[in-house]
Amino acid sequence: MAITSFVSFLLSLLLILVQAKGRNVSTCPKSFSCGDFTDLSFPFSLSTQPDCGMMSMSGCDAKPYPRIQLVPGGEWYYALDMHNSSVWLRDPKLQTTLMQHNCQAFNKNFSLPNSHFMSFHMVNIHSFFKCISTSYNARNITHKKNNHFVGYNIYNGCEGFNIYYNLSKGADNLPTNCSLIRLPIHSSHGDLFDVLGPEFLAEWKLSDECNECHDGGGQCQTDKTNKFSCHKDAKTPTSTTDQRKETTGRNMVGLIVGTGSKICLIAAMYSYYRIFMHII
Ligand SMILES: *[C@@H]1O[C@H](CO)[C@@H](O)[C@H](O)[C@H]1NC(C)=O
Ligand SMILES: *[C@@H]1O[C@H](CO)[C@@H](O)[C@H](O)[C@H]1NC(C)=O
Ligand SMILES: *[C@@H]1O[C@H](CO)[C@@H](O)[C@H](O)[C@H]1NC(C)=O
Ligand SMILES: *[C@@H]1O[C@H](CO)[C@@H](O)[C@H](O)[C@H]1NC(C)=O
Ligand SMILES: *[C@@H]1O[C@H](CO)[C@@H](O)[C@H](O)[C@H]1NC(C)=O
Ligand SMILES: *[C@@H]1O[C@H](CO)[C@@H](O)[C@H](O)[C@H]1NC(C)=O
Repeated sequence: MAITSFVSFLLSLLLILVQAKGRNVSTCPKSFSCGDFTDLSFPFSLSTQPDCGMMSMSGCDAKPYPRIQLVPGGEWYYALDMHNSSVWLRDPKLQTTLMQHNCQAFNKNFSLPNSHFMSFHMVNIHSFFKCISTSYNARNITHKKNNHFVGYNIYNGCEGFNIYYNLSKGADNLPTNCSLIRLPIHSSHGDLFDVLGPEFLAEWKLSDECNECHDGGGQCQTDKTNKFSCHKDAKTPTSTTDQRKETTGRNMVGLIVGTGSKICLIAAMYSYYRIFMHII
């Protein structure tokens, strides 16, 4: 009997240990600094703690600007200036192609996915029409496109396609062999490469339910089916990875309790066996 209680004591000790190890809850800082930006908070987070926010920042020690990723897995931009719910960004790749007057600049398309709890608006982004121009029928197509794009500027300095744009006109219906691309603009004068710029202002808005969730100490998340969920832990915000750790932790507890009870049973049987032998 003494052995059984000793074993169960050992078991509970193990249980506590495993639970403490399994629940490795990383607490998110209330605010943090990155580069020259101070007092940053949700929805920003450091890339080392991606679960603490929705927009990751990295290169905080890099000069002159740290980098920011607006959406997980998205492009990294330089963060030039920050306001309450907007940020001026620079795309270093676009900057290079624009400086070189490289037509690869038109392979880009600035669009940000809106999640269920966060929507973006890019202020100085404009629509451009990129239309295929094959040498065989270039003149005819250009002629046809010109009919469609009456009152548009045309840029034909790129091989294989023309760019049509009018800074006073937004998106229009698309003629065949044309695609819509959205690029940042910084000037209304000059040739297309002067009009385009590598910097843009991105504004964001969190949904009311996400704001409420965050104010209540929770974290806005989307589950696998892309549905909004507010993840709350008693005190500390938990992340999805932590949740996973927790479950593995529980599995481990189950495992140990399982093996433990077997050991316990064997020990008990052994002691009864010895007592029994003694009596005889
Ligand atoms: C717990 O988190 C810390 C940092 O937050 C990390 O260094 C440590 O390895 C983690 N432990 C486990 C068991 O995951
Ligand atoms: C930024 O937000 C804080 C509180 O969230 C508010 O007090 C301040 O006026 C805001 N600033 C601007 C420029 O909107
Ligand atoms: C560029 O993004 C816009 C949405 O912002 C989309 O409508 C358009 O089809 C995209 N163009 C290309 C070429 O992917
Ligand atoms: C342009 O189209 C006209 C008919 O609309 C056709 O006769 C002519 O051969 C075409 N030119 C080229 C270069 O394709
Ligand atoms: C662009 O569109 C506006 C409004 O439709 C028009 O007044 C202007 O002349 C156009 N610009 C060019 C370069 O055609
Ligand atoms: C679209 O482009 C293809 C070649 O890329 C050409 O064969 C076709 O005729 C074009 N269609 C129109 C309507 O211009």
